Amino acid sequence: MISFLESHSFFSYDLGLVQYISKLECDVKPVRLAILGLGTVGGGALKLLKENAAEIKRRTGREIQITYVGTRRPRPDLDLGDEVKQSADLLDIVRQPDVDVVVEVMGGIHPAYEVIKEAILHGKQVVTANKALLAEHGNELFKLADDNAVQIAYEAAVAGGIPIIKVMREGLAANKINWLAGIINGTGNFILTEMREKGRAFADVLKEAQELGYAEADPTFDVEGIDAAHKLTILASCAFGIPLQFDKVYTEGISKITAQDVKYAEELGFRIKHLGIARRAANGIELRVHPTLIPAEELIANVNGVKNAVLVQAHAVGPTLYYGAGAGAGPTASAVVADVIDIVRDISYTEDGAGTIPQLAFEALTNVPILSREEMTTGYYIRINAEDQTGVLADVTTILSRAGISIDAIMQQPRLKDLIPIVILTDPVVESKMDEALAQIQALPVIHGEIVRIRLESLDN
Ligand code: HSE
Repeated sequence: MISFLESHSFFSYDLGLVQYISKLECDVKPVRLAILGLGTVGGGALKLLKENAAEIKRRTGREIQITYVGTRRPRPDLDLGDEVKQSADLLDIVRQPDVDVVVEVMGGIHPAYEVIKEAILHGKQVVTANKALLAEHGNELFKLADDNAVQIAYEAAVAGGIPIIKVMREGLAANKINWLAGIINGTGNFILTEMREKGRAFADVLKEAQELGYAEADPTFDVEGIDAAHKLTILASCAFGIPLQFDKVYTEGISKITAQDVKYAEELGFRIKHLGIARRAANGIELRVHPTLIPAEELIANVNGVKNAVLVQAHAVGPTLYYGAGAGAGPTASAVVADVIDIVRDISYTEDGAGTIPQLAFEALTNVPILSREEMTTGYYIRINAEDQTGVLADVTTILSRAGISIDAIMQQPRLKDLIPIVILTDPVVESKMDEALAQIQALPVIHGEIVRIRLESLDN
């Protein structure tokens, strides 16, 4: 077994003996954590730190001690031990001298925002799973952390147990990222999967996701794409070095997806997935979250249930796919505790305790603009309900052709309630052109009901 001295021997090259001994004394002291929030993630992190304590200590060289738990709802089911102090006064906890690292797993913007700011101002390192907070206030918080020489670690904020932040900052660090497309909301994927495979009703599946602890406190965040937009904001900042720009993400949820379109998409060889997409285009960056038809044979099309996956297209390595559980106690705690371990290593092994976790860009590293929805380019699935009259198809295809929209496939379905459903797949087109063409088609007297439009991605370049 490697002794503690051996494992730390590189310090003797870098530091004088006195510095080395004082470093060693500091290193052997436990690192003290305050865990704020005792819900699914907080409970999971406590359990993981306890059950894997020996292995974690071996990997970090230091003991991790939980000194405080901050919660308004104590959990008698969790064995905290006698040394852990419990309090509902979160601001007081983060000011305490026997706290080195604050682990914020409460979720929600307030009071997490105030508590994290106070922690940073008191020189505490921060680990957070709070995607909403980072997406909406991250530019300010990362700047504050930088000014106060502490780090904010955020692996658990995106895709639960998949270490996608580490992938971006380490594994793919040599690459230019061209685009990424992710299933980054487990609840939404769970609902779409159950609807497709078992024909279950939307509300029934959502209720189950809530009971299993996957869904957000406000489940509209899951089904309307807001949670995915928070995560995409963070991923895009990692990928492109742009500031966090949640307000510029085009966001559409899954609540309007019908069993009829799921079925027609399958007949055409596609699956409908709710994707977060960040893409470097010629004239800017696209940030978009929406239901998307993708070829059924793609690996990511076969990611089912609550699982998440992120497909990254990078210039040197090409496409790589990361898959795993995107929500739940164990997977999210795995990411939280990995961040704690990173910080413990930084505190212990860097000469000045400086961080090695790259912080998100709080200032523009690039002037690339974020494109508006009208400027984005995607393929399309269009479904129209038309009267069964001669020339309908010709009228529709003429409008598309005049708009310069290339048709990839057309499928006419059997009559439904006196109308003929017609499904058209198009090649990629700028959305403003599609808006104009669909407005003209919608105005044809033979077209009934609202035209259904779902974006389509071939994911092949
Ligand atoms: N509500 C989120 C999801 C939890 O379903 O993915 C994990 O961020």
